[in-house]
Amino acid sequence: MTVKLKGRSLLTLKDYSKKEILFLIDSAIELKEHKAHGTLTKKLQDKNIALLFEKSSTRTRCAFVTAAVNEGAHTEFLGKNDIQFGNKESVEDTARVLGRMFDGIEFRGFKQETVDLLAEYSGVPVWNGLTDLYHPTQILADFMTVKEELGFLEDVKIAFVGDGRNNVANSLMIGAAKLGMDFRIISPKLLYPRQNLVDECKAYAKESGARIKITDSIPDGVKDCDVIYTDIWASMGEEDKIPERISMLKPYKITQEMLKKTGNDDIIFLHCLPSFHNLKTEMAQKFPDICEVEDEVFESNSSKVFDQAENRLWTIEAVMVATLT
Ligand code: CP
Ligand code: NVA
Repeated sequence: MTVKLKGRSLLTLKDYSKKEILFLIDSAIELKEHKAHGTLTKKLQDKNIALLFEKSSTRTRCAFVTAAVNEGAHTEFLGKNDIQFGNKESVEDTARVLGRMFDGIEFRGFKQETVDLLAEYSGVPVWNGLTDLYHPTQILADFMTVKEELGFLEDVKIAFVGDGRNNVANSLMIGAAKLGMDFRIISPKLLYPRQNLVDECKAYAKESGARIKITDSIPDGVKDCDVIYTDIWASMGEEDKIPERISMLKPYKITQEMLKKTGNDDIIFLHCLPSFHNLKTEMAQKFPDICEVEDEVFESNSSKVFDQAENRLWTIEAVMVATLT
């Protein structure tokens, strides 16, 4: 497959075609195999990568660092209190400075507008490591995991259950619509995705043959599914909404009973992580009903969440290699 992505940013999956998304997933699978066989070559030798984080991260930050090191690049972590960014210096000026020194920039933070501005002003590829609206690199890892498990992506039936308007749900819907999947969002009506995004995804679906269903009915939504996917109920920056979300989303917690309702014995469970499944965190101690998935599901054979977490590395490596070389 000949796909040229050199010089491109990844701000949202809306900007990528089906062919380009599939190319990145296949490249990631190849990189993973090369690493296992000791045949990785250092394709990003002498490249400098800036990692800007306004919000915290385990997987995304570590994936960018390990992927860069695998390929011979150097990373510089720039946390929100480390640089003048947005505080004493505009995003536009910061972008122009970083673009003179770095070959690529990752950004994780609040506003989508910030990552868009970084791309517009830096002159180098910018990768969205999560904003309030989108989390595109996550979806590449999710689809890679599905491909590893099922061997195919088109027509896969995926249900996202939970906060149907968060960054992961939004990006999953865009990716599923582009790739021609049977995609469902199952959430309370108040957390349905924004209508303009649903309309955009329905337009992609017309082209790809995807089906998109938004429902508050669990039996209707999970029927015949291949994959059940969830995320925490209150995203970073929404901590004040936790009590309200718990009361809205408690019926949507992923349970063994819900997995049985799919009628699929080989159902796959995915979660972008972090998760409150075992209540072993300070926040979970404070809000014991915050748990979006029961531990039995999280620890079951259906759960592929740590393959999915590892695949963040390979897909991010594929994105950096494709857009920088
Ligand atoms: N899934 C994900 O983005 O994890 P982090 O927040 O740890 O990066
Ligand atoms: N929706 C979550 C995803 C974390 C990877 C958040 O934004 O906090």
